[in-house]
Amino acid sequence: MGIDPDFAKKRQKVGTHAGHDVWGPVEPPTKLGIHGTKVAVDFDICIADGACIDVCPVSVYEWLDTPGHPTSSKKADPVRESDCITCLACETACPVQAIKIST
Ligand code: F3S
Ligand code: ZN
Repeated sequence: MGIDPDFAKKRQKVGTHAGHDVWGPVEPPTKLGIHGTKVAVDFDICIADGACIDVCPVSVYEWLDTPGHPTSSKKADPVRESDCITCLACETACPVQAIKIST
């Protein structure tokens, strides 16, 4: 099961991080929610594969350490979300469909 494409309708914004929205529920360290809106990464699904970081032509992502999370101890954080050119390379590359790009 990948990220819910309708997350913005079903979840609530619970805060911001590094200039992007965070969508709950968030209960650290085991539940981290979704980071970003245009470039949304479900941190609870991300396994730190890193393909998104490798393929992004405009360096939207940076690693964020998330010690104690059950699926991985670091996540691809969309810190330059506003630089996204909507090429969808990351969404396609992620092996666990943790990313949803909205236009
Ligand atoms: Fe995570 Fe998928 Fe990127 S597993 S690090 S969002 S390719
Ligand atoms: Zn973040």
